[in-house]
Amino acid sequence: MSELNETNKNASLENSETISWFPGHMAKTRRMLTEKVKLADLIVEVLDARIPESSANPDLDGIVGQKARIVLLNKADIADPVWTKHWVDVLARRGKKCAAVDARTDKDKGIKSVVGFLRDAAAAKLVSLKSKGIRSGAVRVLVVGIPNVGKSSLINRLAAKHAAATGNKPGVTRGPQWIKVADGLELLDTPGLLWPRLGDWTTAYKLAVTGAIKDEVFDVRAVVFWLFDFLKMKYPFYLAKRYGLSFPLPASATDLLSCIATGRGFIGRGGVIDEERALRAVLKDFRNGDLGSVTLEYPDEPAMEH
Ligand code: G4P
Repeated sequence: MSELNETNKNASLENSETISWFPGHMAKTRRMLTEKVKLADLIVEVLDARIPESSANPDLDGIVGQKARIVLLNKADIADPVWTKHWVDVLARRGKKCAAVDARTDKDKGIKSVVGFLRDAAAAKLVSLKSKGIRSGAVRVLVVGIPNVGKSSLINRLAAKHAAATGNKPGVTRGPQWIKVADGLELLDTPGLLWPRLGDWTTAYKLAVTGAIKDEVFDVRAVVFWLFDFLKMKYPFYLAKRYGLSFPLPASATDLLSCIATGRGFIGRGGVIDEERALRAVLKDFRNGDLGSVTLEYPDEPAMEH
């Protein structure tokens, strides 16, 4: 068994059912969301383009029921563009109205298509509401997703002003506030929601490495070592480039971490390597996209012919 597998075997996330990554406020969030869904005409489900499957809350179908839904793959700027395109195709084939976006900078102007999606949905809904004489107000859109996936950033982008506060820590609750983003269209941000039982430990690693699970509740070393393993397999050049390493890359995760720490000058007293600092730096690099544009999971379906 490789060193990495040993590490993973011992990692607390592997026993993800036993660690407290599903904090008490999540149950409250879920109840709140269930209430807000009743007020909404349309749901925008924000997924992380790097983990479109693992960031999809399996409980959401039960919570939102038959309400119309749009799926956005956010953080497309730091996901592998080839795979993002593939994911959008696959999700469309699965019957989802879907687009890839970058709520942080909107460099590719993907937000425009979202406004289009919302306007279409809103127009149809407004006509239907008016014809039933139900109400003449705005179409209400609920923005849902896991912590830190970019819900607030997306609303800010759509509102084209900094109406919603963004933050870098998962699980920060915010008071409900409908935000007008266009004529007849109002959006509501909701606190990030996770689900109590993750399917398997790789889902937990992916959620941890992308920042959806609080750093305090997982074994950072195990998560970073898992990331090393993935990057060595799929994107070894990114590792080499970011940390000035040459090939072959160090075989063990511990040696790789030491090389990164040494290269960065993370050396403590007595010449001891500051592993903790190196681990945090790697996580930060990954989350900021400084390691490169990386997708952590791929669909089973083949690519569509274009
Ligand atoms: P949330 O409401 O779902 O919890 O997420 P929020 O918008 O607060 O975003 C969480 C972090 O993700 C923020 O980074 C934000 O800038 C970043 N982010 C959101 N959308 C995108 C995107 O499309 N691409 C990239 N690369 N990053 C995105 P932060 O470092 O925590 O905060 P900040 O320093 O950027 O304000």
